[in-house]
Amino acid sequence: PLVSSTSLLKKARQEGYCIAAFNVHTLEMLQAVVDAAEEAQSPLILQSTVGTVKHLGADYIVAAATVASNRAGIPIVLHLDHCTEFETIIQCIRAGYTSVMIDASMHSFEENVARTKRVVEIAGAVGVNVEAELGKVGGVEDEIVVADHEALMADPEECRVFVERTGVPTLAPAIGTAHGMYKGDPKIDFDRIGQIANLVDTPLVLHGGSGIPNAQVKRAVSLGMAKMNVATELRIAFSDAIKKIFAEHPEENDPRKYMVPAKQAVRALALEKIRLCGSNGKA
Ligand code: 13P
Ligand code: ZN
Ligand code: NA
Repeated sequence: PLVSSTSLLKKARQEGYCIAAFNVHTLEMLQAVVDAAEEAQSPLILQSTVGTVKHLGADYIVAAATVASNRAGIPIVLHLDHCTEFETIIQCIRAGYTSVMIDASMHSFEENVARTKRVVEIAGAVGVNVEAELGKVGGVEDEIVVADHEALMADPEECRVFVERTGVPTLAPAIGTAHGMYKGDPKIDFDRIGQIANLVDTPLVLHGGSGIPNAQVKRAVSLGMAKMNVATELRIAFSDAIKKIFAEHPEENDPRKYMVPAKQAVRALALEKIRLCGSNGKA
């Protein structure tokens, strides 16, 4: 069965490693990251965004993830990534998700506290993990460094108050990473990670995992990042492998053939990320 991530992430934070959370969009991607986690004997967090819930259906995602969790000899979590709607969160919990993110980072601090608290109370009652975001993780629009640099970053003291007031078991503080690939290296504020980690013992979540140089990931993990989200790099690996097949064999029409290298590419990349995070052998 699928398990909650709360205790897995707490242990990761305490022992100084990180659990990679992979955004998957197809059955093949899901199977590929499960295969990688099994090979590495690592706990695994499968994630879907709200867009993927709409694309596949929460019930299909839960069914596939549940089969994986029953077959694989490792703990597997199913997490809802970046959800802004209370209703969708409740629907996914009811469908069988074992972890949810309430992303109210676009609202005021007070509103973020209120919305997060509401989800924590309900999810907590049924043993489902909750993640919330403070500050604002840059996105695809984040091509130029925003002049008011500080405004995007999570404030360490606010993190402390936020965790105290909401009781949220996992926190994603914006510390300079962004969704998608980077133009150049990300400008991660490591001092800020350290300050936040000193004030809250909650496992911290690193968003925007794609494109962060390995040494910077390791440093962020050593400071308290216990979960790292990886989405874009997996999509690129999956799609590039399929593009290559069709470029070389335009007549190919069998998904059972052209999906094979795509799955292998996702599996290899997932294995690399798991080892980078140091969760191999921790299942
Ligand atoms: P990347 O697309 O940079 O991997 O970010 C993933 C993420 O944070 C999903 O929530
Ligand atoms: Zn994210
Ligand atoms: Na990124």
